[in-house]
Amino acid sequence: MKSFLVLIASFSLILSINAAEKFSGAEDMPQGFISGDASKGSALVGVCASCHGADGISISTDWPKLAGQNQRYLYEQLQYFKDGERNNALMMSVIPYLNSLQDSDILDIAAFYESQASSVGQAKDDEELLALGTTLYRFGNMKKGIPACTSCHSVYGQGNSLAGYPSVAGQQVGYLTSTLKAYRSKERNSGEQALMMQSIAQNLSDQEIDALSNYMHGLYK
Ligand code: HEC
Ligand code: HEC
Repeated sequence: MKSFLVLIASFSLILSINAAEKFSGAEDMPQGFISGDASKGSALVGVCASCHGADGISISTDWPKLAGQNQRYLYEQLQYFKDGERNNALMMSVIPYLNSLQDSDILDIAAFYESQASSVGQAKDDEELLALGTTLYRFGNMKKGIPACTSCHSVYGQGNSLAGYPSVAGQQVGYLTSTLKAYRSKERNSGEQALMMQSIAQNLSDQEIDALSNYMHGLYK
């Protein structure tokens, strides 16, 4: 009986530790769960339009689209750029501007881009490349330690907005390729979530990265 009670006590301790962890996690990042104000955000993105487009559809294949991307992901990435944890020569030019803003402004910017309509790309019509991209995206390759991308980015590439997992559907193909390579070389290393993608990208060949990027670029619901 005594050991039974000890067991119960330790169980409830574990449960309360878990709850505390969840709570402090949420507390660290309250903004992730509060929605920004898209109309306020629209007044703050003038300087971003030259690369990301006025509506979040970037004009170069090498620059990411932001339209329709989830707020939590956008907010977190902007904080990484501000902190210098994520680096990019082109984004560098707007860091002083971003630093002049409040966190609530950053969230409003994120809300603005989330509210913009995403656009679909056109996958290259290369049968072999498409077959490889489809298989890897949907099922992964257990032997090579590549998990199915669907488990986090969803079947149609929408991601998971609550968890802040990014949408990859219709993303620019040049950007997808370069960012997967940046995870692979560990150059993209901002935050714990990036570690997850680093370990996945580690197992991808150049050809697999091309195939996946082509597939995601053409992915839509
Ligand atoms: C001179 C071009 C340029 C300007 C201006 C610019 N960006 Fe970027 N932005 C980029 C590039 C290039 C990347 C990709 C960086 C990389 O590969 O890591 C990027 C990445 C991002 C990302 C991460 C996207 C993702 O999918 O991970 C966000 C968010 C972002 N920019 C927001 C902004 C905002 C907000 C502004 C205006 C305050 C802005 N950018 C201005 C070029 C630009
Ligand atoms: C366990 C969950 C998980 C799996 C599985 C996963 N991803 Fe990710 N992915 C993430 C998270 C979380 C991020 C954001 C990481 C960060 O903050 O840098 C991400 C980021 C990305 C990005 C960058 C998006 C952007 O806008 O910059 C690409 C591209 C990507 N993943 C592709 C893939 C592909 C391709 C696969 C399958 C081979 C895959 N992911 C499997 C969770 C996952």
